[in-house]
Amino acid sequence: MTLPARKTALDTNSFQRSSALKLASRVDQIKPFQAMEILKATGQLASAGEDIVAMNIGEPDFTAPERVKRAAIGAIERGATQYSDARGLPSLREAISQHYRDKFDITVSPNRVVVTAGASAALLLACAALVSDGDEVLMPDPCYPCNRQFVSVFGGEPRLLPTQASNNFALDPTTVDDAWNRRTAGIILSTPSNPTGCSMDGPQLATLLSAVAKRGGFAIVDEIYQSLTYDHAPTTALAFDDNAIVVNSFSKYFGMTGWRLGWLVVPEFLVPSIEKLAQNLYICPPTISQHAALACFDAETLEVLEQRRLEFQRRRDYIVPALRSIGFDVPVIPDGAFYIYAKCTAVNHPSAANSMDFAHALLHQARVAVVPGTDFGTEQANSYLRFAYSTSIENIAIAIERIRSICT
Ligand SMILES: Cc1ncc(COP(=O)(O)O)c(C=O)c1O
Repeated sequence: MTLPARKTALDTNSFQRSSALKLASRVDQIKPFQAMEILKATGQLASAGEDIVAMNIGEPDFTAPERVKRAAIGAIERGATQYSDARGLPSLREAISQHYRDKFDITVSPNRVVVTAGASAALLLACAALVSDGDEVLMPDPCYPCNRQFVSVFGGEPRLLPTQASNNFALDPTTVDDAWNRRTAGIILSTPSNPTGCSMDGPQLATLLSAVAKRGGFAIVDEIYQSLTYDHAPTTALAFDDNAIVVNSFSKYFGMTGWRLGWLVVPEFLVPSIEKLAQNLYICPPTISQHAALACFDAETLEVLEQRRLEFQRRRDYIVPALRSIGFDVPVIPDGAFYIYAKCTAVNHPSAANSMDFAHALLHQARVAVVPGTDFGTEQANSYLRFAYSTSIENIAIAIERIRSICT
């Protein structure tokens, strides 16, 4: 007969120690996504058999193109699975450099390209390299919520600056200049933006970058939605400022969210610092994904991606008038990404004055999941909802009719 193992003093101690562990104070600074609450509630309803239209997740419904999948399988089969250089495979850095030449007619040396584990690791490395304790970093309100956390985790203070729908929700150079003080280190923004889907145009971006350069600050420009641009050609901060710190990713346009691959373009002088940080923080980006991503720039893959971009544009053209017909105010037609940032206060529903309550009402009464504006900032955040049109037109049509049925 086997006796149950005796609980040792060590077991007891380790239990007591883990329950009494004191967490680093930075953990308290990090705010969870409110979207996660909606996500959790969505998951519970879905597992109870409810049919939910998910417009809360910023993830394309398309997955990696066929040639990319095949390239990954090829890499696994030939054993190309070991660590790569911390900055990424030279061939991929060369392909990204060529991408800037082909798409924007600008020269970006492969030496300035650092392949990362998604845009997330690119933002993490950039903030690790540039944000010191007590630094203030300016960002538009509303903006991608994690940017605030990347700054906080390195001891900086995010400072949100209000933006106007009439100005495409863009960070205004005069507002930045007025806010600048001796603690300000730089700015972070995304264009096209999450959550507004609006882009800064070339002149807007050039003026802002020059205002920041005059102050001697850094500009981290997240271009993750760059190729999902609909009404005009995409642009890059690198066309206006060689010192811009540019973030990009294979997640959205290339449909590779779970492959965890992105990139940074940095000025030459920053490369050794970024390399040192990448080596120590995560060694290298995923090698199989890097071999696969080489197929992203093939003509055949680019054609597939172009068709997908046109599909996103069709969805945008469908959803904007549909939301307006229910009473949502879409103050400016978004020209990129796959988000609509819609003002909800005039919608005929008892919860419409509070975006979190309204998001819950839409989930529980209409079975449509969206994200409240309060995730993205404070400025008028209670008046806005973010709809992701990263789902089919058929699903969007169902969502619209369900919302209409509870808002009349
Ligand atoms: C503006 C922005 N930046 C970065 C990310 C993170 O992207 P990745 O999957 O490449 O880490 C997201 C994801 O939604 C995003 O919207």
